[in-house]
Amino acid sequence: MPDYKKIIILLNLCFLIPFAAEARSQNEYGWVKNALERSEEQLLTAAEKYKCVKKNPRTFENGTAKFAGTNDWTCGFFPGTLWYLFEITKQEKFKTEADYYTELLKCVQYRKDTHDLGFMLYCSFGNGYRITGNEAYRSVLLTGANSLMTRFHPEIGLIKSWDNRNNWQYPVIIDNMINLEFLCEVSKLTKDESYKSTSIKHANKTLENHFRPDNSCFHVVNYDSITGNVISKVTHQGFSNSSSWARGQGWALYGYTMMYRETKDPKYLVQAQKVAEFILHNPNLPKDKIPYWDFNAPNIPNEPRDASAGALYASALIELSGYVPNGTEYLNAAEQMLKNLSSPEYFANKGENGLFILKHSTGNWPAKKEIDVPLNYADYYYIEALGRFIKVKNINIP
Ligand code: GLY
Repeated sequence: MPDYKKIIILLNLCFLIPFAAEARSQNEYGWVKNALERSEEQLLTAAEKYKCVKKNPRTFENGTAKFAGTNDWTCGFFPGTLWYLFEITKQEKFKTEADYYTELLKCVQYRKDTHDLGFMLYCSFGNGYRITGNEAYRSVLLTGANSLMTRFHPEIGLIKSWDNRNNWQYPVIIDNMINLEFLCEVSKLTKDESYKSTSIKHANKTLENHFRPDNSCFHVVNYDSITGNVISKVTHQGFSNSSSWARGQGWALYGYTMMYRETKDPKYLVQAQKVAEFILHNPNLPKDKIPYWDFNAPNIPNEPRDASAGALYASALIELSGYVPNGTEYLNAAEQMLKNLSSPEYFANKGENGLFILKHSTGNWPAKKEIDVPLNYADYYYIEALGRFIKVKNINIP
């Protein structure tokens, strides 16, 4: 072959190889695009269908859709998922729906009887403000954060989770870690450090008292409301006081990963990694990495799964993978979880499942409520995780 021909072939190869590699990697993530498109379709239909109810959809049980009023900790997830879909797809129709379902929750900002204000307001108004800069949303966030701060007791050093439940004096649940993201964000918005320093105090005391030597966590720690001493360490939604409730481990993983992001304090990163180790190397984590509702549920493998915990793990692990040198293990595990959640085993057929995306979540097994059902927070963390995965892998979304 003459030299000039060799040079032409070489030049062509140099030009084509990167394109071929790019095309291969985009094909590899066809499942992401497919899952996203089907989620868009499902949730848009839900948003249109449920508008007349004037409440956010929560679950679908025994053939009936159930809705979350403004006293329900899950009321912010549906609008939050719509905000994520708007952010990922840039399609105006998601913004219109997200605005509508967010506005329904304005009165939540004044509630002082629950710690769940982060879930309720940050997922809805928080995402809405971050994405659109709508000043009215900012004002709701500030009022809501002040309401949440009233639940912090300086001597105890914790935000109280629940009032008047089970004769507990000052119960703090691991879920409460998620509300700290809301407070950290409000510190940034207002340049007032007090919200963030409250979060740090809460995270530190939780670190001290919520974890077991095997790095799993209790669901509830009940403190003495005067001395701040620990009275008992128990469960509310897990199988037993000594078991590891799957979603609770997820709140811990997500919570300490997020607190590391906000503070760069290495002890939070270490804790997040310890929780990740507990989850990922647990002999009771199924092969598809979507957990049973409790790691110590008595009839494993004949126990319901909790897809909401799987979605939560996936989202947290993607973030955590960016903070540590062994991040590929976490990212690969998250990819496996997301891929499985996007398969027909967990992903609902179009128009079914009460128009939720994921099947097979468990809300509250001990109360025999919401077992093997869709849940709005499973969909929220699934779409959040999908968005994070798209970003990390640089996947082109049309
Ligand atoms: N925050 C309550 C739950 O995870 O079910």
